[in-house]
Order: sequence, then C-alpha cells, then structure tokens
Amino acid sequence: MAKTDCFVFSLSVVILAIVSLVAEAGYYVCDPEAYAKQGLDITEFAFCDDNLPYTERVKDLVDRMTVSEKIQNLGNRAKGVPRLGLKPYQWWSEALHGISSQGTGGVWFDSVVPGATSFPQVILTTATFNESLWKAIGETVSTEGRAMYNLKHAGITYWSPVINVVRDPRWGRTLETPGEDPFVVGRYAVNFVRGMQDVEGTQHIKDLDSRPLKVSACCKHMAAYDVEGWNGTTRFVFNSKVTQQDMVETFLRPFEMCVKEGEVSAVMCSYNKINGVPSCANPVLLNETVRNAWNLHGYIVADCDAVEEMKKHQNYMDYTPEETAAAALSAGLDLDCEDWRTYHSYYQDHLESATKQGLVREEDIDRSLTYLYTVQMRLGYFDGDTPFERLGKDDICTDQHVEMAADAARQGIVLLKNNDEALPLNPYFVKNIALIGPHGNASSAMLGNYAGTPCRLKTPLDGLSAYANVTFAKGCWNILCHDQGLFKPALEAAKSADATVLLVGLDNSVENEDLDRTNLLLPSNQAELINQVAKVSRGPVIVVIMSAGGVDISFALNNKAVHAIIWAGYPGEQGGRAIADVVFGAYNPGGRLPVTWYPNDYVNQIPMTSMRLRPIDQLGYPGRTHRFYTGPTVFPFGYGLSYTKFRHSIKLHKKALSVKINLPTHVHCRDLQYAGHKPTCPAVMVDDIHCHKNFKFDVVVANIGGRDGSQVVIVYSKPPAGIVGANVKQVIGFKRVFVPAGGRRTLRFQFNVCKALGIVDYKSSMLLASGQHTIIVGDQGNSFPLRVNLSF
Ligand SMILES: *[C@@H]1O[C@H](CO)[C@@H](O)[C@H](O)[C@H]1NC(C)=O
Ligand SMILES: *[C@@H]1O[C@H](CO)[C@@H](O)[C@H](O)[C@H]1NC(C)=O
Ligand SMILES: *[C@@H]1O[C@H](CO)[C@@H](O)[C@H](O)[C@H]1NC(C)=O
Ligand SMILES: *[C@@H]1O[C@H](CO)[C@@H](O)[C@H](O)[C@H]1NC(C)=O
Ligand SMILES: *[C@@H]1O[C@H](CO)[C@@H](O)[C@H](O)[C@H]1NC(C)=O
Repeated sequence: MAKTDCFVFSLSVVILAIVSLVAEAGYYVCDPEAYAKQGLDITEFAFCDDNLPYTERVKDLVDRMTVSEKIQNLGNRAKGVPRLGLKPYQWWSEALHGISSQGTGGVWFDSVVPGATSFPQVILTTATFNESLWKAIGETVSTEGRAMYNLKHAGITYWSPVINVVRDPRWGRTLETPGEDPFVVGRYAVNFVRGMQDVEGTQHIKDLDSRPLKVSACCKHMAAYDVEGWNGTTRFVFNSKVTQQDMVETFLRPFEMCVKEGEVSAVMCSYNKINGVPSCANPVLLNETVRNAWNLHGYIVADCDAVEEMKKHQNYMDYTPEETAAAALSAGLDLDCEDWRTYHSYYQDHLESATKQGLVREEDIDRSLTYLYTVQMRLGYFDGDTPFERLGKDDICTDQHVEMAADAARQGIVLLKNNDEALPLNPYFVKNIALIGPHGNASSAMLGNYAGTPCRLKTPLDGLSAYANVTFAKGCWNILCHDQGLFKPALEAAKSADATVLLVGLDNSVENEDLDRTNLLLPSNQAELINQVAKVSRGPVIVVIMSAGGVDISFALNNKAVHAIIWAGYPGEQGGRAIADVVFGAYNPGGRLPVTWYPNDYVNQIPMTSMRLRPIDQLGYPGRTHRFYTGPTVFPFGYGLSYTKFRHSIKLHKKALSVKINLPTHVHCRDLQYAGHKPTCPAVMVDDIHCHKNFKFDVVVANIGGRDGSQVVIVYSKPPAGIVGANVKQVIGFKRVFVPAGGRRTLRFQFNVCKALGIVDYKSSMLLASGQHTIIVGDQGNSFPLRVNLSF
C-alpha cells in the first residue's frame, strides 16, 4: 500500500512537472486558465470543444464573429478576437533554408534564441539531387521552428519554399529556388513540404481537413514570376505574357506537384500579372486551378503587398481600393500580406467598406476564414496538444543539425574542372595555402538571402585552416572588385604557397530579390585577379565560385594554369568547412548543376521579359533551359565531376522496349504537328485513358576509380523525332547513390508511361505520343528506345 502511494505520489510529481512545462510552452487558444482569467467560461465556446470535428468548431468560431472582426483577421497580422479569447496571430514567418528573420515580425533572434541552423541556399541543396536530404532538412527546420514557437520567437506558418522555375539565368532569386527543371523543382517542393508539415504516424489520415500539421508550409510565388527588374520593368508591374502550354508544362507544374503530392497547406500568389490579370486577382488561377482542380486544403495568401500593388502601380482596371480588394477576395485570395514598409494590409483597410458598398459576399469572407482556422486547428494552435510542446532551446542549433548543414553543403558542391587530378589536395604535401579572393573569409555571404542568425559560421578561411597553414589575401575590397589595388599581396602569397585557392563569385549585391543580373560574368576585376594569380602561383590553382546563377567562366576553363574549378552555391553556415572537406578530399563531390550555365552572350540574344521557353526563330531567340535550349553552354544542366570514375550499364526488363496501349473505341486519336512523316494515330489524350502501364529498368552504377563516392543518375525522356515544338528532353526521375571504390550498386527506376512520356501540346493538352521515344540515362551517353504503340 505504502509502496503504491509512493508510486502515485512520484507519478503525480512527474505529471505536474510535465504540465508546468506545457504551460510554459507556446500559446494555444483553448487554455481554460486563460479563459477563466478573462472571466469567460470556456465550456460555452464550442470551438474549444475538442470532441467536435474541426469543421464544426471552425464554423462555430466564424459564426460568432462580426463582419468587422472577420475582416481584421484576413491580414497577416491577424487581430484575433479578444472577446472570444482569440489573441492576435502573425501569419508571416519564413524558413527558406532555416528559420529566417526576414519579414515583419514572425521570427526574431535575441539572447533567448540567439540563432537557428542555416542550411545552404536552396539552389545548392538542390544540386545534391538527394530527395531524402531535402525532406530531412524540412524536418529539421520545422523542429527548430516549433521549438522557437514554444519560446515565443517564431510562428508556425512558414511562407517557404520558393518553387518558381528558373527560366532566365539573370534572375536575381535563382538562389532561393530548386533550379530550372519543373520536375526537379516539383520533387524538391514535395519533399521539403512533407518534411516541414508531416507529423509522424498521422500521414495515413486521408481527410486533409483534420490531418495534423507540424508546421504549415507555403509554395510560392504563383506563377510565371521570375523578373525582379529589367530594362525599366519591375516585378510589381510586370505583365508576364505566357502561353497556356508553358503555363501547364513549366510554370504551374511544380505548384501542382506541391499541392497534389506534397499536400501543402498554403500557396502564395505573385506580384506580376499573367496575360494582363494580376495573379492575386485571377479566379482561374486561384479558385479554379489551385482550389478546385488541385483541391488545395489550406489557404491562399498574397505576396506582401501584392493586392495594394494592383492599385498603386498597376492601377488594374482603374478599380477603387474597395473594388481591388473585392476582386482579390472573389478570385479566391484568402489572406492578404501587408505592405512591409507601412504595415498596412489592403484587406484590413478596405474590405469592410467594400462590404458596405455591396462588392463582397460574406460567404466568401467566411470561406477564407474557414480555410485559415482549419490550418490553425490542424497545427494544434487551438488545443496545444501536439507532440512538439516540449521542444525548446536544446532542440535548436544542435550538433546534429549543424552537421546536417555541413553535410548538405558537401553533398551539393559541384566539381566543374579537375585537370591532372589537381584535386583533392593532399594534406601531407600541401602544408601551406594561399587563400585569395573576396569570398576567402565569406561569412554572412554564405547564407545568401532569407537567412536568420546562424548558429556557428565556418568561413572558408576557418575551414581551410583546419587542413593547412593559410595566408589570406582578399585581392578585392568586395565582390564588385572595382580596382586592382589589393592584387599585390595576393600575387605574393600565391608565389610561395604549396597551393592556391581562389574564392570568388557573386553575392547579394549582384543577385538578390529585387535585383537581376545584367550579365553572366564575374564582376569587373575578378577574372583579372584569377588570371594574374594563376600565372604566378607556385602550386596548383583551385577556383571556388560562390553564386546561384551560372557564371560564364570560359576564360578559367580554357586557362591551363587554372587546374580545378568548384561551384559552391551559397553553402550556408558551415560552408567553409564543406569547401575545405571537398578541396582536401575528406568528401568526394557528387553534386550536379541544377541550371544551365550559358555563355554571357545569351543575355544579348533574348530579353528577360520574354517568357516563352521554346526558341522563337523569327526573333532569333534561343530556347530556355535544358529542355529547349540547344546552343552552346559553359556547362549543361546536370553537369558535375567526381574524384572517382563511374560506369553505368542499363539492365532492361522483359518487353521493356515497347508499350502497347489498346484504345477503347470511344477514345479518339489526337493530332500533333509533325515536321515530316506523321503516324496514323499521332497521340492520345492522357486523361482519356486509364494509364496504368509502367516501364522499369535497372541502372548498375560501378565505381571503377580509386575512391568512394556518390553518383547522381538523372533520367530523361525524349519524345519521338519530328514533333513540332516538343521539348528536347525532360527530367523524369533521378537518384543519388553512394558506391564504394570498386563496388557497384543497382538502382531500380520505374515509371508510369503517361507521366514519364507525356508532352503538353500547344493547346495545353497532356498527350501521349505514339512512336519511338528515347530514355536517356545519366550523362554517359546511355540511352535506349521505348516504342509506344497506340492501337484499337
Ligand atoms: C542523402 O542524404 C542523406 C541525409 O539525409 C544521407 O544520409 C545520404 O548519405 C545521402 N545519400 C547520398 C548517396 O549521398
Ligand atoms: C529597353 O527599353 C527601351 C525603352 O522602352 C526600349 O527602347 C529598348 O528596346 C529596350 N531594350 C531591350 C533590349 O528590349
Ligand atoms: C470558387 O469556386 C467554387 C466552386 O465553383 C464556387 O462555389 C465559389 O463561389 C468560387 N469562389 C470563391 C471565392 O471561392
Ligand atoms: C574573418 O571573418 C570573421 C567573421 O566575420 C572575422 O571575425 C575575422 O576577423 C575575419 N578574419 C580575417 C583574417 O579577415
Ligand atoms: C603551420 O605552421 C606552424 C608553424 O610554422 C606549424 O607548427 C604547423 O604544424 C603548421 N600547420 C599545418 C597544418 O601545417
């Protein structure tokens, strides 16, 4: 008896301890104590009754609110409803590559939370082509976000990731994106979103109105937005003229994957107009496509201050402010993000008078609120009963998280040139290094934009110093490198060192949000610095480039005195360590370029504002991206070397070379434009057939070199020859695999015929063409034909 008492006693002490921890944790709405303090009886509020389904609770809440209260909750700075016990909520937090303090107040760092793990910028993380890493980063970022929320330093609704396809190499926001291939971008979105949102053990819940969320992610910016400012056109007024074909095939595809496969809980519309209609007032885009056709379960938010821009700079349809706000709401825009300069939200300022003028249906307001509160319920914001209540300071910037940031950078780094196996440097022989260049001691520059305060920065100087004695000479005052005043000490250092490492490239002063590049070159004197240093260096010369967009470094590629070139993106807080690990061979690089690197002349061939992806012969425009551009490149999409050698062989399964699809009699053949011979039945509409046909094959990756390493295998499909306007090739799958020296690994690839071979015609229909397709495996020239027979 006594023993049991004692047990009960100690158990209740533990429970008390847990309860008090929970009470310390982040705010949640339905806290009985908080209601009691306010003199309210919580049992009178059905929206706090956790026995009821979310749908009923949300309806109860919305029905209690006045129109004015409702409207004050449609801005990112939601005012709450004090009389109902609902506190204000800041919807805007950012987590592009780690919890970020960008924006107006969702996240902040101070002595309580001094920093959060800053992963490489997305463009470098994409270069890993490692889907499990993309997801793991999402999981880690959301764990830190939850911990910061509990410490009242962050929200639980994050407006990340950015999944715009990089259409033009000048685009200033390339660093934030997963590159130029819509399928790769879409897979990044799906993995990152699932990493952020999924709560372990609940993924099986089918009903997306009740499935728990760890944090809410948001795919942005929809759509056809990738001009910051070019020749006088800013992103705030840019009218993106797109064909329906490009829309379906390229600009919308990652968003569709994000919503349908990632089951994201928010989508953001962009500033630009699409064919004359602002994205955030476009009912076809928002309501018909995202909400209805893709079945979004979540909310649609405007880029910050996109609604105001419709009036201020676009003067769309000459609308009044009220008409503007009403147009956005009735197009399906749920939440308005304020003007970050004035803290004013157009919805909060103008929707009430719009309602009084009869321009708005209360039903539409209620529906938007329902989406918003349902997301908050799924987040546990009302009940505070999530598995994350106990996360705190010890879960941020852990050694494991920081190590993952280093590992992501190592996995992403791309080896572009390695003459005479100059790399890796052997630390046994290379005792001292000349480290030269404006990025030699790069710190916050490694984070790119949308960063927070990092936990532990490791600059290239720090990283290389772990391997050798380093003499550091900047060579240029900054990235712009306007003069050669600092060249002399750099040349001196190179003359006596065992090896020279040059750290050059771009930073936010050259490519950033609101800042496109005007050329694809290294800024002013950087190339001269490299050439002069290479000429006098005693040891091998290694050039490391930090940038997001491709840089035309043909000069260094052709210069025999430059032995090796590495691209390091913006490698995050541990970037310097990752670079050193690659340079000295502790890690064998396996990253691949997620964008085409064009020659500089590309910018003279096509205006940035031309959105078309296919070449336009009459205007002399080359195509865009590896799917349509066939001109010369500095490096093609998917390029990347290793310190070891791999050999691929394809093992085809029985009947792998031909797919026969019997068409039911009610299905009709669809036409395709052909240059030359056209098959009798050129194509069939994918939606017309139940397309369950798969094809599969194995790729055996043999490591025939002397070092362990990781290999990325990218699989492309190429439509039958002669189809007018078809892509050159498109990515349909990829895998990254580690293979020890002398070993081999077998990768199984399996594809649905229609998904992998489908092409979008000029009328924007998804078609399966008959005839001989080609499957291209990796960049070693391996391919095999795949014949599609359509017959009745
Ligand atoms: C992919 O990333 C994971 C980390 O999430 C890592 O454990 C794994 O080794 C990586 N795969 C390859 C082949 O590099
Ligand atoms: C830039 O804008 C000016 C003025 O509108 C126009 O004349 C010029 O052709 C544009 N340049 C390019 C390369 O399109
Ligand atoms: C969106 O589409 C649905 C279904 O067609 C319709 O009921 C609704 O009124 C539309 N508008 C908004 C703002 O949701
Ligand atoms: C390198 O950068 C760090 C962090 O910004 C700074 O503290 C240090 O003084 C720099 N070192 C040199 C040699 O410039
Ligand atoms: C760097 O130089 C010092 C003094 O010359 C020497 O003791 C040390 O071993 C060197 N470190 C490396 C990594 O070579």
